[in-house]
Formats: sequence, C-alpha cells, structure tokens
Amino acid sequence: MRVAIGSDHAGFALKEKIRNLLLELGHEIRDFGTHSAEISVDYPDYGFMVGESVASGQWERGILACGSGIGMSIVANKIPGVYCALAADPSAARLSRLHNDSNVLALGGRTLEEKTAFEIVKVWLETPFDGGRHVSRLKKIQSYESQSGTAHYRANDNPLIILDHPLIQHKVGIIRDRNTSVKEFRELVQEIAGLMVYEITRALSLEEVEVETPISRTKALTLSGKKLAIVPILRAGLGMVEGIIRLIPNAKVGHIGLYRDPETLMPVEYYCKLPGDIEDRDIFILDPMLATGGSSAAAIDLIKKRGGRKITLVCLIAAPEGVALVHRCHPEVQIFTAALDSRLNDHGYIVPGLGDAGDRLFGTK
Ligand code: PRP
Ligand code: URA
Repeated sequence: MRVAIGSDHAGFALKEKIRNLLLELGHEIRDFGTHSAEISVDYPDYGFMVGESVASGQWERGILACGSGIGMSIVANKIPGVYCALAADPSAARLSRLHNDSNVLALGGRTLEEKTAFEIVKVWLETPFDGGRHVSRLKKIQSYESQSGTAHYRANDNPLIILDHPLIQHKVGIIRDRNTSVKEFRELVQEIAGLMVYEITRALSLEEVEVETPISRTKALTLSGKKLAIVPILRAGLGMVEGIIRLIPNAKVGHIGLYRDPETLMPVEYYCKLPGDIEDRDIFILDPMLATGGSSAAAIDLIKKRGGRKITLVCLIAAPEGVALVHRCHPEVQIFTAALDSRLNDHGYIVPGLGDAGDRLFGTK
C-alpha cells in the first residue's frame, strides 16, 4: 500500500518507528516530516499535507502522530475526502476501517506504547471496509460535503507535485552546493526550470489540425490556442524565466516585486505589472524558493485581485511550512517543486535548501 506519514515534534519518535514498521511490512511510504523532535513545529502544517495527499488520491492512506493524536485528527478531518480515525487501541482502529472506511489514522506519540501503536497500525492497514449498511452512512457524510461545496476537492489534481526526474534531481544537487559558482548556478536554474516545463504544462489541451508532410496530408495535434502567462516573483523568480520561455515562447511575462522583511519575514510588495488580459490566461508563478510561503501566497493574492484565476505555482525548493500556507490560503493552486525539504530554520531559511536564491543568482552576497 502507498502510505503518507507525518507528525509534529511530539509525534516524531512514534512516526519514525512507524516508518520503519511500514517499510518492513513492504509498504511504499512518503514521509512529509517533521524530521526532528528538538524543533517545535505546528501540527496543522503536517496534518494538512498528509491529509491533502490522501484526499487528492496521491497516497492511499495517511498516518499522523502528535502528542495525543487529537490535534492531527481535527486538522485531517477538516479536509473533504479525509475520514480520519483517532485510535487508542486496535479494536477502535479495526472498527474505523470496517464501519467508517477511514483513510487517515491519528495516533498519540505521548500516549501510546510502541507495541500498541504497532498493533493499531497493522490492524488498520489489514482491515477492509465492510460495506453493506455502512455505505449509506458514508454517503450522508459525502452528501454533506457536496452541499457545503467542498466535495471532490481537487480529486483529479495532486495539490503538490514533486518532480523527481533524475536529471532534475542531479541539477538540484549541484545548485545546493555552496561552492557552485554564480555562472553555473544561473545556468542550472534555467535548465531545471526548462525541464520542469514538460510536467507543468501537461494539462494543456490540444486540437487536431491538418498538415501536409512532404509525403501526404495528415492530421496532427496543436495546442488549442491556450493563452499562458509566466509571472516571476522578483528577484529570484527571474532566474527561471528564460528556461521556460525558450519552450513556450508565446507566453506573456508579468512581474511581481516582493521581498521578505528580514525581521518579520513578511512579504513587502514593491512592483506589480501583469498582462492586461490576465483573467483569460493560465498563469505560472515562478519562484525558486517556497519558504514560509508568505511571498507566494501574497503573489497569488495580487494576481487574484487583478482577475487571474487559473494559477499554478512553480518552485525549485519548497519547505513543508510554505506548502501548507499556500494550500491553506489558496487550496485550488497546484504547486510543482523539484524538492520538498525538511523545514525552516530560525531565520526562515529552508533546511537544507540552497541559501539565498536571489544572492546566489545575482552574486550579491
Ligand atoms: C526569497 C525567495 C522568495 C522568498 C521566499 O526572496 O526568492 O521570493 O524569499 O520566502 P517566503 O516563502 O518565506 O516568503 P527574497 O525576499 O529574499 O527577495 P529577493 O528574491 O529579491 O532576494
Ligand atoms: N529565500 C531564499 O532565497 N532562501 C530560503 O531558504 C528562504 C527564503
């Protein structure tokens, strides 16, 4: 089974044990963090990420741990399509599968013995949904979700897509290296952005046209008059523009100027110029770094205020905190990233990250 796991600092030790158990049992896992018990983090950031990855169908099940499991279960159950069970013993876990078809399990890292937690996890993964009379009850929950307009939340779209192509990963490894020169850094950022184009444009629609080859007439496919806009967040987003424009040369380019106040880490706007018909365009916001998420969330706000609707965020390195903030403020915006790192440090820098992307691109340090 494909299982997403996550915890805060209080659930970290239990999450690590469960991670090993799942691997031993032959499950495929994705660990959304956190990655340390020492650094205090906010459980909603991890609960939303794991829950959304299950609701979107990217992962089949999710397991969350915090101190008592209660916070995580509250967070996960806010997400339409998530049915999260807070289980303190194996029989509750079993019933949550038989009767409720639970797809996320919340556990108390500070309240459960390891042995009990393992039994809970095993029974929860092994037990099928019983169907029968329980189906109509679940339908009532789903009907409530659809009445409140939140059902099938991004059912066909993964909210976060990590582009793990080997070439992208190889190049990301080089830009992380502190010894990489400004010239090489700049070239690689363009190349990675170019490689990402293939996936970020996957949903564009095609139409048939007739062409005459040197041999005969035939039908061929062409992009169906899609209007695209690329919007880099200044400065560092500029580093990705050329790599993308090379492949989609007719896209219009807008610019949003934001910098992070070093004290508050809040974004400060200083420039915004977008194509006049932004409301008709598929918009790709570019920023290599999604750290606290403040800059990206503010850029999305600015674009929405000017009428933009179809927005995708493209970054190179994301932190869980930034992904969670963007998804909370703008749940319909899909995020593409080349890497999802562990966390932010006390200065709001991504760990391990690559340092200050703007300084490394423009040699300003
Ligand atoms: C960097 C980066 C992002 C922002 C990410 O820009 O390019 O725009 O920080 O951080 P956040 O997710 O916490 O908002 P910076 O503010 O350093 O400006 P610069 O690109 O002009 O150097
Ligand atoms: N901005 C950057 O350029 N790097 C980080 O790690 C965080 C914000």
